[in-house]
Amino acid sequence: MCGIVGYIGTDKTRDVLLNGLEKLEYRGYDSAGIAMLNDEGVHLFKVKGRIQALRDKVDNDVQSTMGIGHTRWATHGEPSVENAHPHQSTSGRFTLVHNGVIENYYELRDAYLKDITLTSETDTEIVVQLIELVNNEEQDVMKTFRRVMGMLKGSYAIALIDKENPDMIYVSKNRSPLLVGLGEDFNLVASDAIATLKETNTYLEIEDGEVVLVKPAGVTIEKLDGTVVTREPYIVETDAADTEKGTYDYFMLKEIDEQPFVIRKIIQHYQDEENNIKVEQAIRTEMAEADRIYIVAAGTSYNAGLVGKQVLENVAGIPVEVHIASEFSYNMPLLSEKPLFIFISQSGETADSRSVLVKTQAMGYPSITVTNVPGSTLSREADYTLPLYAGPEIAVASTKAYTAQIAVLTILAVDTAVAKGLPLEFDPLQELAIVANAMETLTDQKETFEQMSLDLFKDTRNAFYIGRGVDYYVVQEASLKLKEISYIQAEGFAGGELKHGTIALIEDGTPVIAIATQENVNYSIRGNVQEVAARGANTCIVSMEGLDQPGDTVVLPHVHSLLTPLVSVVPMQLLAYYAAVQRDCDVDKPRNLAKSVTVE
Ligand code: F6R
Repeated sequence: MCGIVGYIGTDKTRDVLLNGLEKLEYRGYDSAGIAMLNDEGVHLFKVKGRIQALRDKVDNDVQSTMGIGHTRWATHGEPSVENAHPHQSTSGRFTLVHNGVIENYYELRDAYLKDITLTSETDTEIVVQLIELVNNEEQDVMKTFRRVMGMLKGSYAIALIDKENPDMIYVSKNRSPLLVGLGEDFNLVASDAIATLKETNTYLEIEDGEVVLVKPAGVTIEKLDGTVVTREPYIVETDAADTEKGTYDYFMLKEIDEQPFVIRKIIQHYQDEENNIKVEQAIRTEMAEADRIYIVAAGTSYNAGLVGKQVLENVAGIPVEVHIASEFSYNMPLLSEKPLFIFISQSGETADSRSVLVKTQAMGYPSITVTNVPGSTLSREADYTLPLYAGPEIAVASTKAYTAQIAVLTILAVDTAVAKGLPLEFDPLQELAIVANAMETLTDQKETFEQMSLDLFKDTRNAFYIGRGVDYYVVQEASLKLKEISYIQAEGFAGGELKHGTIALIEDGTPVIAIATQENVNYSIRGNVQEVAARGANTCIVSMEGLDQPGDTVVLPHVHSLLTPLVSVVPMQLLAYYAAVQRDCDVDKPRNLAKSVTVE
């Protein structure tokens, strides 16, 4: 969480920092700040709240050719101006922004900084104070920076400016993302390239434990021991326009609407000239050799993993376990003889998933990351990557990444089945194309879902979703979507489970939404709806063409029974979206959340 930007070179500093931070707000948005350096010294602006508040506070008369900025998701210390970054050393010489968590900050504080009065509760301030202290001894900022970075334990992406060396930004990282962007008369740093795509599409990766000097005319990368590293830059293909809302009120609605397009893009990327599915040979071999797959993920990606399990087991005939990343490390299941780990992560940065990857790598097990951000930490550290091709997902609530994850796992399942010589009962690419059309039919009916959302959720405190089989997995995602953006307390249950306790909560008007897309449970899930309706629930059935019955609220276009989650989730996303809009919630930036969860 937290996003950082740094810029050096031209007088565009203020705009680059503020525009960049705005693009990074998905990483946290409880406080923000920028520091700009010029002949008069450091100009520091910090606010509690969003980047818009920071814009209002920044003095537009300040001219500067270098600066750093930060948008925060609080870990150590409440959201406040004092705890907002940038932080400064006592003398004001050094100013620093940090994304991550310094795990040994108590030890460092007690060992070195007892005589210093700290002005914030953050782990970050320890770093900048330590830099000043060590530099008093070293009298060499680069040496100092390397030495202090070597003292830190935990995760960090750091950008430091020194009032006495105004022509450089000092940068380092460990386990937190950070890129250097290259320009003609400037250079910059950012947590994510999408923050600065308007400035440049040419970036340099920085590896953990490297220290980088960023100057207007060049960039020097060194290891902690001072060895110079050479690295070729790469081009980020993302179009800057993809990071804009366009005519939409919120990114979430734009991203819901993009889903048919994303599915078509996935089909295109994963097919060869003969229209057969194409997956990297090494991945195919690992899949065919594995005796069990362990999917590890968090939140929506975990929910996609549940659907993926269903598809992989049915199509590829491999047993699959799905694990919540934050539980896996201390609740590790007995592993099979030839396990293969699949990490699902939109951002590729989720710390809980990464800590599992580090462990399974150490145990020598192969791993694949399914991610929307090739080049992200999980992508770089796993053996293989399967990209989602969903384009930047900016709304905190994940939508198009969920469907892209299921589509890519389906392609992987089919590819494995083909490699193993298993019979295939459907043409996956053709079925996915049918899914894309079905999604479009649903996104074209927004007024229907807007009205339905009003009918179901107006004035309600809570809501329940039920489903059986694969629909049970989708209702878990449906309830997560509703609660995270509208703050309505919502749960997804297996249809038969509600009556084992939770039915006690059903009152007159309690919304219960059932998904009924599976033939083998069509009768039983409808029975569950009757049970809650008899107790006053405000019920709604989302069924599928061919299985529908008179009175169903929504009838989804027919798709293959294994792929129904890709379609049934769309009305669920729209219901949640309109519930949040109707309640005047900040749809794209729900309270207390951040999109990229880089702390465990
Ligand atoms: C919910 C949501 C989160 C993420 C979770 C994992 O809408 O977006 O639950 O799914 O934080 O993030 P990634 O997929 O980036 O690992």
